[in-house]
Amino acid sequence: MALFSQEFGIDLGTYYTMIAEEGVLLEREPTVVAIAIDEQKIVEIGQSAKEMFGRVPDSLEIAHPLQHGVIADYEITQKLLEYLIKEVTGPIRLFHPRIMVSVPYGVTSVESRAVQEAVLEAGAREVFLIEQPLAAAIGIDLPINTPTGNMILNLGGGATQAAVLAMFGIVSAATLRKGGVDLDEAIATYVRRKYGLIIAQPTAERIKLEIGAAVPMNEKAGIEVQGQDQVTGLPQPLTLTTGEIVEALKDPLKEIVETARKVLEKTPPELVSDIIDRGIALSGGTALLPGMEKLLTKELGVPTYLVDNPTTCVVEGASRAFAPGIFPKIRRNLIS
Ligand SMILES: Nc1ncnc2c1ncn2[C@@H]1O[C@H](COP(=O)(O)OP(=O)(O)OP(=O)(O)O)[C@@H](O)[C@H]1O
Ligand SMILES: [Mg+2]
Repeated sequence: MALFSQEFGIDLGTYYTMIAEEGVLLEREPTVVAIAIDEQKIVEIGQSAKEMFGRVPDSLEIAHPLQHGVIADYEITQKLLEYLIKEVTGPIRLFHPRIMVSVPYGVTSVESRAVQEAVLEAGAREVFLIEQPLAAAIGIDLPINTPTGNMILNLGGGATQAAVLAMFGIVSAATLRKGGVDLDEAIATYVRRKYGLIIAQPTAERIKLEIGAAVPMNEKAGIEVQGQDQVTGLPQPLTLTTGEIVEALKDPLKEIVETARKVLEKTPPELVSDIIDRGIALSGGTALLPGMEKLLTKELGVPTYLVDNPTTCVVEGASRAFAPGIFPKIRRNLIS
């Protein structure tokens, strides 16, 4: 690859921001930044900032510049991108790269322009915006170059996207601006209502990752966590079981199922029969929740399967979208 023609894909996710080149992942950092409030100066970026959450003095703020898949804080996002792009291009950058960055399906023009400008300001020469379901489909090698219908359900941290693709484009799709973080919130709400204890998001997420499930399962050992009594404010230990988490997640999971169902309902019948034959591809970190395939297959009446690269397919696909066999065909479907 020539130095002067560097082309990268970026997945600017609510949870993780990643950079890939020709389908190879180069960088992956949590979309988290630690800021010194007085000077408005960034002190840590990515994993080291994330580890500071809940453990910093008042002079520092831990910021999550993306919310539900879109930029919530422009300046911080831009700084984070600048840092990550420098990591992959090196400090002496002779030629500015071309970048393909993924955005959730259905973003507003204000939201997409913010992404475009942030990436340009962070050092790109040219920026293209690709809708995430299309990037994911390229990243998992779905045959979207044919008139066959393919469906993908990307279950992210901040958003859920369901899309049917054919002939390099999106035929029908929907985005729910809810994702894994809303599952964490549902766990925290459940614990507060049932036990009168407050737990923070990182604790709720840890519970989800360790014992969470989408459908009842053979019980694993319960998990013990520390909560804070709502009334006295004192710490109190609590043991939770998988069955309780399944119960806690019922409502947000229902919303995810409904998002996929709505897309299936508005898909032409010819394509639906392809999807029934081929199954629905599941991607995104939340697709790793045990029992997710089972729940979706049962509720939708269509087989679903977890892809091989659920958390990296979007960034891999965005970077591969520059390939000579793909770029000319998808160009008209990119957001301008
Ligand atoms: N094994 C697992 N079980 C359940 N949830 C998981 C698992 N692993 C990761 N997650 C969840 O996946 C989410 C992150 O997914 P992902 O990396 O796809 O998000 P993202 O791309 O940054 O977000 P988005 O695409 O919504 O902007 C988090 O909510 C995390 O808790
Ligand atoms: Mg994502």
